[in-house]
Amino acid sequence: MALLEINGIDIAYGKQVTVKDCTITLDQAEICSIVGESGSGKTTVIRAVLGLLPGGGKVTKGDIIYDGRSLLSLNAREWRKLRGHDVSMIFQDSGAMMNQTRLIGKSFVEYIRTHEKISKKDAWKKGAEMLGRMRLPDPDRIMHSYPFQLSGGMRQRVGIAMGMTYEPKLLLADEPTSALDVTTQAQIVRQMMELRDEYGTSIIIVTHDIGVASYMGDKIVVMKNGQIEDQGGRKHILEESSNEYTRKLIGAVPSLGGKRYV
Ligand SMILES: Nc1ncnc2c1ncn2[C@@H]1O[C@H](COP(=O)(O)OP(=O)(O)OP(=O)(O)O)[C@@H](O)[C@H]1O
Ligand SMILES: [Mg+2]
Repeated sequence: MALLEINGIDIAYGKQVTVKDCTITLDQAEICSIVGESGSGKTTVIRAVLGLLPGGGKVTKGDIIYDGRSLLSLNAREWRKLRGHDVSMIFQDSGAMMNQTRLIGKSFVEYIRTHEKISKKDAWKKGAEMLGRMRLPDPDRIMHSYPFQLSGGMRQRVGIAMGMTYEPKLLLADEPTSALDVTTQAQIVRQMMELRDEYGTSIIIVTHDIGVASYMGDKIVVMKNGQIEDQGGRKHILEESSNEYTRKLIGAVPSLGGKRYV
């Protein structure tokens, strides 16, 4: 049985149907990359999985099955239980999601303490340790900083650290590395792969970067105008697909010193 089945869903913001007939299945320990142009509905799809569509957003058709049960019928309490432990999300712009007037450490401690019974002191230690694992230098200083005192890339890594704290069974990552330099990006990508290899975490990663998408994804979903234009195994999408849009996307990958990423 698949861990996650997105079964033919439509998603509407108000009356406007934004995503149509989206079907994606994900096995345990499988990684799916979603690519596609800006505005094609990538964020909308993964937010729907976590029940975090912004105001007015709603799944109007189809179903989302996680671990055998429909997510669309969960109540607020069941959602809280699922988020963080089972399913966790790294947002497109973690920096903006953070409370700007609170120390990173305070936010992190609070996050940890909503998920387990642990003293503030131990939660602080755990948070700092996670920051270290994201290769953030001087974690204790970062814990004592406000979000605005960090660079965009550092804030993003703090968000990633939080999202990975509980080794979720399903990780939804929305452009997790786009604000980062290539070295840091490579480290974060490796860390996500490790999470999969060590804990069997399933991952959906949304990215503009075909290089990252094809490096990480066992399968790749190509979205366009709110619909799935093409999907399949990595090899199929990269080498065999005859879909014109897919070919165009792959063709647009910049080559570096004559060497292509994919
Ligand atoms: N809160 C909202 N209310 C109304 N429409 C929205 C809302 N959020 C997104 N949309 C619309 O839904 C469509 C898909 O947006 P979405 O953010 O899912 O795209 P995306 O593929 O993630 O784009 P990007 O690559 O730029 O992040 C867009 O047309 C957008 O205007
Ligand atoms: Mg997006």
